[in-house]
Amino acid sequence: MLPEKMKGRLFEKDSFSDILGQENVKNELKSALLAGRNIIVVGEPGIGKTTLAKNVAGLGMKNFIRIQGSPDLTVEDILGDIDPVRALKHGPLSLEAFQKGKIFKADKGVLFFDELNRCPEKLQNALLQVLEEKKATLGSYDVDFDIDFIFIGTMNPEDSSTEKLSDVLLDRFDVIYMHYPETDAIERQILKDRGKQLCTVSEGLLQLMVRFVRQLRESDDLEKKPSVRASLGLYERSQANALLDGRKNVSFEDLKKAVVSVLSHRIRLKPSIKYLESPVQYITKQFSLIDVSDLEKGGEG
Ligand SMILES: Nc1ncnc2c1ncn2[C@@H]1O[C@H](COP(=O)(O)OP(=O)(O)OP(=O)(O)O)[C@@H](O)[C@H]1O
Ligand SMILES: [Mg+2]
Repeated sequence: MLPEKMKGRLFEKDSFSDILGQENVKNELKSALLAGRNIIVVGEPGIGKTTLAKNVAGLGMKNFIRIQGSPDLTVEDILGDIDPVRALKHGPLSLEAFQKGKIFKADKGVLFFDELNRCPEKLQNALLQVLEEKKATLGSYDVDFDIDFIFIGTMNPEDSSTEKLSDVLLDRFDVIYMHYPETDAIERQILKDRGKQLCTVSEGLLQLMVRFVRQLRESDDLEKKPSVRASLGLYERSQANALLDGRKNVSFEDLKKAVVSVLSHRIRLKPSIKYLESPVQYITKQFSLIDVSDLEKGGEG
């Protein structure tokens, strides 16, 4: 549950200011937090899920604990375990015998569980018990989890290496769907605010790189699409290329040089294309097709 004094912050206009745009997502998140619900944010990689969850902690929560979901994560890693040496010393049923897991550090804060659907089902069930009953069974022990935290999980919708989240678990969460930045303008702003500033990028070039990434996202040829990290990559690498060439202004050539290294591994071609050309060839070709006439009119400064 969100502490009373922090609820007020949810009514402020810019409660989640680290995320640009995504007004619907922010409103749904506020509503879910206010109602004390457990939350799963669903979305493609690199669209701001972690940033958003950290922003919740920034409302004034004491702790922010992040757990990276993976198939080899165990119940003991997260909830805790009986330490045999301490059990012998203090007696097996003593509180001292219990070595607290990571989850206890989330007390009065946010437990952020990244890629929840990559965890084994056993762990999902244990977590469920903690969320529901504030208790869990570890081996032959019933342990009390007298801790209070906001649970925010994330889930990548297309991950094939994942366990399906069980229906009983999903039934305990509200799901918030997050998307790529809504407009070109928002994505350009993200680059300016969040990207490294090494030298000057003209509005024209900024527009061009963002438009190129967004065109790729809309393409029917791609199975995996470039994220905001890809746009950030183009922004930073083209600046670095200008610097290396002894200039303070990014040129079209600087961007062109960055394109393959930033984009080709961030896309996956659909099978119908994959056998005809490689990602490197694909990106090179698509980039050669972009219209640079606006840029020439506006200058490259
Ligand atoms: N709407 C947005 N507003 C501000 N920054 C954004 C937005 N979307 C993406 N970013 C930026 O993109 C980068 C990746 O964001 P983040 O790590 O939060 O993504 P993620 O969804 O958690 O990714 P993953 O699924 O790979 O863990 C960060 O630098 C973040 O600032
Ligand atoms: Mg993340």
